[in-house]
Amino acid sequence: MDHKRDIFSSRRAAIFAMAGSAIGLGNIWRFPYMVGEHGGAAFILVYLFATVFLSLPIFLSESIIGRRTHLGPYGAMAKLAPGTPWKHVGLLTICSAMIIISFYSVVGGWSVDYLFKAIRLEFLPERSEQVSSMFGSMISNTWLPILCHTAFLGLTAVIVVLGVRKGIERFSKISMPVLFVLIVAIMCYSLSLPGAGEGVAYLVKPDFSRLDASAVASAMGQSFFSLSLGVGTILTYSSHIRKSENLITSGLGTSLFDLLFAILAGFAVMPAVFAAGIEPGAGPGLIFETLPYIFSSMGAQMPVLSSVIAILFFLTILIAALTSSISMLETGVTYLVEEKGLRRRTAVIILFGVTWALGCLCSLSFGPLSGVKLFGKTIFEFCDSLTSDFLMTLGGLLFTLFVGWKMSRADVRDELTSGGLYPANAKIFKFTYFLIRYVAPVVIGVVFVTNLLM
Ligand code: PHE
Repeated sequence: MDHKRDIFSSRRAAIFAMAGSAIGLGNIWRFPYMVGEHGGAAFILVYLFATVFLSLPIFLSESIIGRRTHLGPYGAMAKLAPGTPWKHVGLLTICSAMIIISFYSVVGGWSVDYLFKAIRLEFLPERSEQVSSMFGSMISNTWLPILCHTAFLGLTAVIVVLGVRKGIERFSKISMPVLFVLIVAIMCYSLSLPGAGEGVAYLVKPDFSRLDASAVASAMGQSFFSLSLGVGTILTYSSHIRKSENLITSGLGTSLFDLLFAILAGFAVMPAVFAAGIEPGAGPGLIFETLPYIFSSMGAQMPVLSSVIAILFFLTILIAALTSSISMLETGVTYLVEEKGLRRRTAVIILFGVTWALGCLCSLSFGPLSGVKLFGKTIFEFCDSLTSDFLMTLGGLLFTLFVGWKMSRADVRDELTSGGLYPANAKIFKFTYFLIRYVAPVVIGVVFVTNLLM
């Protein structure tokens, strides 16, 4: 089917959109904690290795498939390997993206609620004792989290309906710089608190003795999740990149922004946690219990400043989560528009319905449905672990195998050098191809099998 496709207007627009997908909840609630727990700067080093040798090859594989065909995951694989089952791999990755957005938007919804709480000045010093417990009662509530999840998914849908150029590109172009300004402002506040030094030490002091197998596995998992790999979103965004663009530059640019944001988030979060004398943790507890507690207890000395920071913080989380969720929804929408011939608006409405319904189940799994268990996990935990531990790795593995072993070497080279336009890329082609063909699939395969057996 022939479709008039939007193309990102510039290199910057493409990188901002992909960085928007990459920068999300993963950077804020998992990365800072992982760094601290797994040996500070030593962990960052491993993370860098994992990003260069494993994540970037997957990233480039997705970019190559997407840009080569200017189609979404299903259409691209059907076109490059006609008459083979590869297209079903494309469909599988699209389904993974739909599962992720379902539980991701529940958390996005919590950030909507907390933004309003911050605006209503609910994190006041005299209430600091209740602030941490507020979270548990909010998420176990039936209707409020569903309402917020609906609002978050609705916002996502509105941006996606507007299209790649008018919706996604425009939103990312504004939100990326805003996100960086916000996180730097919060970091300055956090670093200025008395006792912040301990949090800095927690993040930077290299401790190689803590680099065990689990640290290495965490670094890889975090790098995949953070760069939105294995679920076809990078492939879909790349299908909107113009032919003359340098794929290696956009891959590197996106990874750098993602890493920089994760590190800034670490310095925004951990110094405040240590200043308040709290044990750091990861996950929802860190951003919805610990930080609100800190905002409220600091409020005694600096009521105006800490209220402003609380508002900015939840705004940052909301924007970061939104730029990620639009990339997931777009992946599904591309499929319905390209393969099923639906209008964009109809496709958005259908997928809004599907992901909203699954998201409601995830949301209710903190309350009325908390007793429903799949393999010993609640619905939310199950969706999270099915995708993060299993489907994303499988998708990443299959994308590298497809580019390394199914596509012809000449085609891969042509795409990676933009038809010979970038001689520097031709020079590193051998090495990059080696990573895509051997290193990445072997290591990712081992991680996949280990996850499967554990
Ligand atoms: N990279 C996003 C984050 O760090 C999550 C994401 C996963 C987005 C998969 C799109 C696809 O939060």
